[in-house]
Amino acid sequence: MTTIKAVRIHAYGGPEQLVYEDAPKPEPAADELLVRVHAASINPVDWKVRQGYLKDFIPYQLPMIPGWDVSGVVEAVGSAVTDFNVGDEIYSRPDITRDGSYAEYMVLRASEAAHKPTSVDHAHAAAVPLAGITSWHALFEAGKLEAGQRVLIHAAAGGVGTLAVQLAKWKGAHVVGTASARNREFLQQLGVDEVIDYTSTKFEAVVRDIDVVFDTIGDDTQERSWQVLKPGGILVSIISPPSQETADQHGVRQAYVFIEPNAAWLTEIAGLIDAGKVKPIVETVLPLSEARQAHELSQSGHTRGKIVLQVVE
Ligand SMILES: NC(=O)c1ccc[n+]([C@@H]2O[C@H](COP(=O)([O-])OP(=O)(O)OC[C@H]3O[C@@H](n4cnc5c(N)ncnc54)[C@H](OP(=O)(O)O)[C@@H]3O)[C@@H](O)[C@H]2O)c1
Repeated sequence: MTTIKAVRIHAYGGPEQLVYEDAPKPEPAADELLVRVHAASINPVDWKVRQGYLKDFIPYQLPMIPGWDVSGVVEAVGSAVTDFNVGDEIYSRPDITRDGSYAEYMVLRASEAAHKPTSVDHAHAAAVPLAGITSWHALFEAGKLEAGQRVLIHAAAGGVGTLAVQLAKWKGAHVVGTASARNREFLQQLGVDEVIDYTSTKFEAVVRDIDVVFDTIGDDTQERSWQVLKPGGILVSIISPPSQETADQHGVRQAYVFIEPNAAWLTEIAGLIDAGKVKPIVETVLPLSEARQAHELSQSGHTRGKIVLQVVE
């Protein structure tokens, strides 16, 4: 058996459950690619899986490899694959029910991959797929955000928020974003029109007439978001399904988004990156062997942009 280095979870629990070790090298099925992983990025879902929060929804076979953002090079293609060749540089947010990208190699369905943006390195490309697809889905598919509309993006400085802000600005929207004071200047440079420091100001006291709220926080933040919408506006959450009853009371709409792989949107986003319209924000790059530290940082809840695991230097 050929082995590779990977980070695996043998039991649900804290960051200490991430073990950097040898694992079997996967082999691609007919419709799959074998990818040499160059970089993987961390998403909060990674540590939610590690803690066991999703085990009732996704029955993982342990040990399993987390990580559902990848940028790398195609090493082999399955017999039915026609869209990709050995040597292609791809990026992907693959199926979350299968082994992920904290590894030297992974397999994913060819239908889940897109050609990587050529103007950024693998570390920056790996920062994009999950947060980019989620933002595209929430803003454009669910929210139908249009030029000239007003959007409120919660946690604008986070992994999802930094991409959502740039996609909304590309669309021509007026962007209001929440973050703590240390991120004010950063977000202004990213294009946010109005930055609200959530630690000192109740956003609902100063924001009005919003067409689309993008809720990346949930709980009390979601509840307080109804009142900032204009009649007919929409609250889109990626945390928990908003109440239809409350939406009706406010004369607005609601949607809940849970990400699925989407190669077509990744291709569009790669084009925006290469056109200079969208810039992936990477705060920290760590080697694969430091996945525990990466999870601890992510769990602190105050990442600016993304944390990336560099697999090939
Ligand atoms: N449903 C789906 O398909 C889906 C997809 C992607 C993500 N998600 C979920 O969406 C959430 C956000 O993901 P992410 O990757 O963006 O997380 P993240 O990168 O870890 O978010 C960190 C950011 O949150 C900000 N923040 C923390 N508390 C805040 C508050 N009360 N108000 C405003 N900003 C606040 C921080 O800003 P400061 O440092 O300035 O405080 C920081 O920049 C996670 O829970 C994730 O699991 C769901």
